[in-house]
Amino acid sequence: MDMKTISTASGLSAEALRTLGQDFDWGVATAAYQIEGAAFEDGRGPSIWDVFSHTPGKTANGDTGDVACDHYHRRDQDLDLIASLGVGAYRFSISWSRVQPLGQGAWNPKGLDFYERLVDGLLARGVKPHATLYHWDLPQALQDQGGWGARDVAYRFADYAAEIGRRLGDRLAALATHNEPWCTAQLGHATGKFAPGLRDAALARQVSHHLLLSHGLALQAMRAAGTACPLGIVLNMSSVTAATPDDEGLARREYASFVRWYLEPLLLGRYPAHPALPLPEIADGDLALIRAPLDFLGINYYTRIWASQQGLPPPRLLGVNDMGWEVYPEGLRELLVGLQREYRLPPIWITENGMPCADSLQDGRVMDDARIDYVRRHLQALAEAKAEGVDVRGYFYWSLMDNFEWDSGYAKRFGLVHVDYATQQRTLKDSAHWYRELIEEARRG
Ligand code: FCB
Repeated sequence: MDMKTISTASGLSAEALRTLGQDFDWGVATAAYQIEGAAFEDGRGPSIWDVFSHTPGKTANGDTGDVACDHYHRRDQDLDLIASLGVGAYRFSISWSRVQPLGQGAWNPKGLDFYERLVDGLLARGVKPHATLYHWDLPQALQDQGGWGARDVAYRFADYAAEIGRRLGDRLAALATHNEPWCTAQLGHATGKFAPGLRDAALARQVSHHLLLSHGLALQAMRAAGTACPLGIVLNMSSVTAATPDDEGLARREYASFVRWYLEPLLLGRYPAHPALPLPEIADGDLALIRAPLDFLGINYYTRIWASQQGLPPPRLLGVNDMGWEVYPEGLRELLVGLQREYRLPPIWITENGMPCADSLQDGRVMDDARIDYVRRHLQALAEAKAEGVDVRGYFYWSLMDNFEWDSGYAKRFGLVHVDYATQQRTLKDSAHWYRELIEEARRG
């Protein structure tokens, strides 16, 4: 009998579950500004997202992260919530301005204490902590000095990384420097959609280099400080499809600017050569720093890039999600297998993948079959990539719970757990129950 046809209770094929393996890390992910709230408490300094979200017209409904999911005050309850999902790993980010309000100089003991307890609370519940140092919330004090456009900020970041590595490195399962530097550079500095809201393509290119430099300096500083846990970075990536044979050139350019621009300095020590992608200013030695060995690579995948000069739409055979992004699970396999063919990759964790739905709570229940279907199909694609030799170690669903979705505010819900923002009531959606059962099934082998 063909094993592929035997579906398990989760709907994944038995073969896919076996391929992912019993020691696969099943996780959920969040980021500091999106869930913590307590934006002005216990000594936290303002970040660029506080300033941006408080600027009229920047976010849907003028939403801000002032309260968000109030996770700062509900940490222990949320730790129980995480444990109740049966996940073995939790990915979170550290708010730089909570632990070091000005981005340099004095540390904030209450901020540091919050993350110490979070990490210890995860370990006490048997959940591996995966931390990210920078999920887009630069201390505003550093923005006032030029932000990521100023080379000096990369050195401030390395100091911050070394301190966190020194304090938490002995207990973390993994520590990533940046989350999605493409978004920081491009959406923050070229399109202005995200904080700090600047619109300058040349600046964005320079920012991308300073982000990568800061990553390299941070790895060097953390390793020099004896940080024990695996160190890496999280990139957002997509497969790219040319709409017609005439669009191949555009597809190559999209892939170069989205994927290769970040991956190649990290893995090969050079930027991709493409006439449409001028180089930033690079000082001697920068690329050698950036190329420091990665213990792991985090990949965030949501959809593919569709390259069409004529503006032809993608086929959208599986529809689009609530953000308008095409659902295209096959892209995850295409992307990973393509990367595996081209590069010598470190171990990979899928650090984000998820589906926003217009969820509603009815009689205490959220029926989100579309999300379950999305995750199931992406896991199937992931298992196929693994079967083709890609060294994937785990998968983090984005997100643990509904939260502040950047410029979309609270209008977009990605969570496995529904949040009623008026009461802060958390309710497990159908997908959360399904995910828990899937994990149990995978662990049983
Ligand atoms: C990613 C971000 C994450 C979340 C998801 C939907 O780009 O890393 O914070 O907003 O998209």
